[in-house]
This record gives sequence, structure tokens and C-alpha cells, in this order.
Amino acid sequence: MQRPLAGQRALITGASSGIGKAIAAALAGAGATVMINYRSGKETAEAIAHEIRESTKSAVLTHQADVSQEAEVIAMFERLQAEFGGLDILVNNAGLQRDAAFHEMTLEQWNTVIEVNLTGQFLCAREAVRCFLKQGMRPVSKALGKIIFISSVHEVIPWAGHVNYAASKGGVMLLMKSVAQEYAPLRIRVNSICPGAIRTPINRPAWETPEAYQALLKLIPYKRIGEPEDIGKAAVWLASDDSDYVTGASIFVDGGMLLYPGFESGG
Ligand code: BGC
Repeated sequence: MQRPLAGQRALITGASSGIGKAIAAALAGAGATVMINYRSGKETAEAIAHEIRESTKSAVLTHQADVSQEAEVIAMFERLQAEFGGLDILVNNAGLQRDAAFHEMTLEQWNTVIEVNLTGQFLCAREAVRCFLKQGMRPVSKALGKIIFISSVHEVIPWAGHVNYAASKGGVMLLMKSVAQEYAPLRIRVNSICPGAIRTPINRPAWETPEAYQALLKLIPYKRIGEPEDIGKAAVWLASDDSDYVTGASIFVDGGMLLYPGFESGG
């Protein structure tokens, strides 16, 4: 097995389920030492860490923190410093949905989504940049550090009934691109992966019955739902020197969801 991330240290936020879990497994499989961040569910996080350690032989730590809380994010980076001696790769994955019709959306639903999906990504990215600048270049990579935002097709596709989520991901797009522009001269690479429909708990109603799955496929030209591993593979590439000339990019891993599938036969 190739280990393009050997000697590198990675933090994956929200890694105790779904896409985050698959990214943690993929990065560890590529040789990285991994910290799995989770907000709740210590036992699940520990079980995932154990499974990944067994299958990849990489070192895996877990750390509880709510990424929307500044003090908790700072404490998590202090632990990274103490246990790993620093960080090479941040995967800003933690995110959630609180769906509601717009006219019924509460301020709490709005704030919860913005605080986790956007402010949480800001806080973790800021601490990662501080860490990269402090530690300097390391022989394990051509870049000073790498940040991968997990955005969504909804950073560009409007989404009725989910305006808080779409607004948070639209924000992530320009957060990512502006940070990329600011730190490219210092050789920090900053990119986003924008998943389409991936089979995870966040969108279970969209795939768990045959009727829902058929309706979902109308939105996916490639005619299959994505699997978390599809995102894990993209994350390994973006974290490795194979993508050394890529920064400021939103990479859509979506089976063509962005291709206006309604126009396949209309227009
Ligand atoms: C959302 C999923 C949704 C997908 C495609 C993702 O960002 O979290 O719930 O299925 O976008 O619409």
C-alpha cells in the first residue's frame, strides 16, 4: 500500500460518523497520524479509533470538542501540539443541518448551523494556520500545511427548506478562497471538497427507501449515490503532494449533481 502521507499529522473534525469517519480512515491508510475530533459519543469515537488503528497500523487519537467554541478549539490544538508536536493537515469536516421552511425557521436553527458549519471552520482554520506558521517547513511535504474544507454542492446550488445550511456553505466557499489567497505565498494550500449526495446519516431520508432513492437519482447524472469512501479518496489526494499545484479550488465530488440534470432532456 502506498503511504503518501507518512510522517504527517492530521486533524479531522466531526470524524465519529459519515464522511469524517471515512476521511480519517483514508488519511490513516495513507500513513498519516490522525486525531479524530467528535462533539459527543465518546464510545463510538473510541471504537472508530480502534478499528482504524487495527486496519492501518497508524496512530489514532480521539479528542472531544465543540468546534463552535473558541476555547475548546484552542484546547484541542494545544493537545495536538503536546501529543503530535504539531499539525500538517486539517480537514474541517464537522457540520450539521437544522432544516425548516424559511418562514418557520427559528433564530436558534439559524445560529446553530452558522456557528458549527461556518464559525467552527473559521476557528479551526485559524488555529491550523497559526500552527503551520509557528512550526515552519517540514521535509514530509512540499507545502507548509494543508487545509481541506468540507463544503457541499450547496455552496452554489440554492436549497429551499435549508437556507441556513446553504448560506453556511456559501460562506465556506469565500472563507476558503480568501484564506487560500492570503496564505498561498507562504505555501499553505487551502481547498474544499464539495460532496453531493453521500450515503451518511445526515441525509438518510433521501436514500433509505427505494422510492426516495429513485427520486434522488433524478438529481444525479452518474446514477448512483456517493459513498463516504469517494470523499476519503479525494481528501488523500488533496492532502498529498500529488495536488501540490492546487489551491483555492472547490472540488465537486457529486456524480454530476451540478450539471443541471433537469436539462438532460428539457430546455
Ligand atoms: C447535504 C445532504 C444532501 C446533499 C445533496 C449535502 O451537503 O448535507 O443532506 O443530500 O448535500 O443535496
